[in-house]
Amino acid sequence: MRAIVVGASSGLGRCIGTGLAQRGAHVALMARRKARLDDAAKEAGDTAFAIECDVTDEESTKAAIAQSAERLGGIDALIYAPAIGPLARLADIDAATWRRTFDTNVMGAALMTSAALPHLTESHGTAVYLSSVSASMTPPWPGLGAYIVTKAALDKLVEAWRVEHPDVAFTRLIVGDCTGGEGDSMTGFANDWDMELAAELGTIWVAKGYIAGAFISVDDLVHAVDGIVRGGASVSMPTVTLAPRPLAPS
Ligand SMILES: NC(=O)c1ccc[n+]([C@@H]2O[C@H](COP(=O)([O-])OP(=O)(O)OC[C@H]3O[C@@H](n4cnc5c(N)ncnc54)[C@H](OP(=O)(O)O)[C@@H]3O)[C@@H](O)[C@H]2O)c1
Repeated sequence: MRAIVVGASSGLGRCIGTGLAQRGAHVALMARRKARLDDAAKEAGDTAFAIECDVTDEESTKAAIAQSAERLGGIDALIYAPAIGPLARLADIDAATWRRTFDTNVMGAALMTSAALPHLTESHGTAVYLSSVSASMTPPWPGLGAYIVTKAALDKLVEAWRVEHPDVAFTRLIVGDCTGGEGDSMTGFANDWDMELAAELGTIWVAKGYIAGAFISVDDLVHAVDGIVRGGASVSMPTVTLAPRPLAPS
């Protein structure tokens, strides 16, 4: 298995990248923060290496895929995890924030897929995109509108790729709450949030029942991604949902 994991310097992408390598895959770990990727590659073992890439920069995506494909000898799987989720009510979101969110969460996925497509076509490989329960399984969460709109766009993007390229298996992986692992493997998704606003909105999310109060384990996440990519293009898994089971009543 020759895999590329984008967004592997932090949180879920890092867990998936190191986890796949520890299960025997050869993995290119990609993101912007190279020092963190180098640490992840060390943790992952001999079969992983770090490649710096900014998914909002087309030249960077092409160069990173070309370098990885050469080093891996081809690509069997692309896993796309980058996303940003600015916490703000829609009325307070400026154009620059909208653009940055679309560039990272949607455009980056399109550019990485275009660059990887010839390799995935040759290997009859798989492409997996991390989406969110907040974009498809609940009404939009107040304060996360920009994130949710881009995840909904990502979901359609995955469908559109599938229609044009049936020889590659495209999977939308809908993920529920997951804190990731420890250290750099912990999610950094909320690091930039205004904590006062987060507390205010968090009360609404809990009251509406959007937050299950339970989390997906890293092992389950890696196991799911490993299963999807090992299926290859002969298995169709258009959507996989990985949500925590509601806590059992006491
Ligand atoms: N955590 C959850 O509970 C949860 C729930 C549902 C879905 N998800 C999805 O899971 C994915 C990962 O989330 P997370 O919680 O692990 O977030 P995270 O810790 O913030 O990780 C985001 C990753 O994306 C990378 N990234 C951001 N901008 C980039 C860019 N321009 N170019 C390249 N890489 C970029 C970051 O690396 P650099 O900054 O080093 O570039 C980092 O590795 C996201 O798609 C998120 O929507 C998470």
